[in-house]
Formats: sequence, C-alpha cells, structure tokens
Amino acid sequence: MIDDLERLHDAGRQRVAAATDLDALHEVDVEVLGKRSELSALKQKLGAMDADERRSAGRRLNEVRSALEVHIAERRRQLESDARRARLAAERLDLTEVIDTTELGHLHLVTQAHDQLEDVFVGMGFTVAEGPEIETEWYNFGALNFPPDHPARAMYDTLYVEFGEPESTLLRTHTSPVQMRVLEANDPPIYVVCPGRVFRSDTPDASHMPVFHQIEGLVVDRGITMGDLAGTLEAFTSAYFGGAIHSRLRPSYFPFTEPSAEFDITCVICEGSGCQTCKRTGWIELGGCGMVHPNVLRNGGVDPEEYTGFAFGFGTDRLSLMRYGISDLREMFTNDIRFLRQF
Ligand code: PHE
Repeated sequence: MIDDLERLHDAGRQRVAAATDLDALHEVDVEVLGKRSELSALKQKLGAMDADERRSAGRRLNEVRSALEVHIAERRRQLESDARRARLAAERLDLTEVIDTTELGHLHLVTQAHDQLEDVFVGMGFTVAEGPEIETEWYNFGALNFPPDHPARAMYDTLYVEFGEPESTLLRTHTSPVQMRVLEANDPPIYVVCPGRVFRSDTPDASHMPVFHQIEGLVVDRGITMGDLAGTLEAFTSAYFGGAIHSRLRPSYFPFTEPSAEFDITCVICEGSGCQTCKRTGWIELGGCGMVHPNVLRNGGVDPEEYTGFAFGFGTDRLSLMRYGISDLREMFTNDIRFLRQF
C-alpha cells in the first residue's frame, strides 16, 4: 500500500507539472484526485486492512492527497498568471507615434523678435510688463493727455468694441496704455518694456495691417533727461542690429510726450548709403518717443516736480521685416507654412 501511494505521489506530481494549460490541469485533477482515481481506489482498500496498517496507510494517503492538492493549486496559479500575461500581450495596442523631428514647429517670427527685444532691454536693467488688448477710452487716450475731441485722436483709426457707453471700450491702438497701468501700479524708479498686439482700422497692404505689434518702453526716475532717452535708444539699436546701425531723433508730436520725437535708425539694407527701402535717405523710421508729459505722470499718481521720464514705442513687425529683408508685412499674418518655416 505505502509503495503504491509513493508511486501515485510521484506520478501525480509529474503529471501536474506536465499540464501546459488550465484545461489539461483540470483533467489531471480529476484523474489524480477524482472518484475514479487510483488514489480513491486505494482508499476503498483501507477498510480491509488491519487497524495498525490502516492507521499508517490512512495517514500517508491523506498526506499524499493534500500534497497533490497543493501541487495542483500552485500549478493552477502559475497557469492562470501565464494565461493573463499572454492575453495582455495579445491585446496590447501600440500607441507609439512616429515623430519626424524635421516637422517640429518653432516660435513665430514676431514672438522671436519680442523675445530678442526683451533680452536686450532686460540686459539694460528693464523688466517686462503686459496689459490688456481690449482697453477703456481712458487708458488708451484720456489718461495719455488726449483731450476729448482733440484732433490727435484721429491719428489712430480706432476700432471700438460694443460694450458699455458708445466709444468707451476699444481695441488698444498702441501699447502706450500699458504705461499708465504701470505708473498706477508702481512707484518710481520704473524701467519697463511692454511688448504686445495692437489694432487699427487699416486696410491690409504691404506695409499696413489692422493687427500688428509694438514694444513700449517707459522709464521714470529722478533726473531723467532727453539725453538718457537718446542714449538708451542708441544702446538698444547697436545691441539689436549690430554696431553699424545707429539712431537719431527728429522733432514730432504726441499728446503724451513733451518734447516728442520720431526715432529713426540707419537703413539696415544699405547701411546708410541710400537705397529704395529708405527712399535714398539712409534712415528708416522706427517709432515715436519723448519725455513723459507732466499730465501723464500726474494721472499715474507720480509727482512731476520730483520725477521725470521718457517713453518710446515702435512696431516690432516692421523691425523683423527689416532684419530679414521681407518685402510684404502681410506675410507675417497669413501663416503660410512655406514662409514661416524659413525663420
Ligand atoms: N504710441 C505711439 C504710437 O503708437 C508711439 C509712442 C510711444 C510715442 C511712446 C511716444 C512715446 O504712435
């Protein structure tokens, strides 16, 4: 009897190990431990044995049975885990995307220009500020010393927004309203540049767009003079365009600066010798500037007896056009990938 049990134990263990899937294991389970198994047949024979033999054979039979049950349970766990892994592998979806690195995008030309300009001015100790694109009449005009109905307002072809009182809300026509917001929020000394998008009711052509970009500069401190303005613009010009390009000021008029000036730079195409782009003058107009008007300082809560300042503002789309020799401003906005890809 004991020999038979050991033989069944070994044979059973081998058959369990040889079962390669759950169905096969189930068959082995029935054959090795089921009612018709040899083990069950041996159990029937216990009754005919004498008491001592029966006790030791019975104990061994139970041991063999539970040992085989443990083997089967272990084998089942292993086969279940294999089956699960096989199913996961079969159901696996390949979600990897093939990325062609030559197709990666990059910043738009105007954004690149703003980043470079910010770098130049931050290098001179300025910080960067921004303001809203939809403005009130007060920030865009009133606070900047444009009297109501003053003809200077006609310099700007303003796009009004239907909101509140008629003509009380507008798309900012320049970045100068950010000057007032900065003055209100900060005490001098102030050294900021404010890049942003501006809007005028213009018909698009090679040099005009109804949407374009400017960068504003504002400095307010004790003892600031027109010389500081000229020096800052000259330092900026050579830092941005290189040493061959210089700046000059010509008298002009803006309600929010006094005195006011137009700010020209050496023509970047001919470097001053005269060409078609600069209409043979050797100079290109970049923007406006001047000493901040005392009324503007007062509107911003700054005492003009204690502080003076200068401001400037110029178009950054034009700057990029000149830097890269692009002939049509509209290219900057049509988003033709063949154009954008070149920069
Ligand atoms: N805001 C003026 C314009 O858009 C430019 C300017 C800015 C002039 C700052 C003087 C001082 O025309």
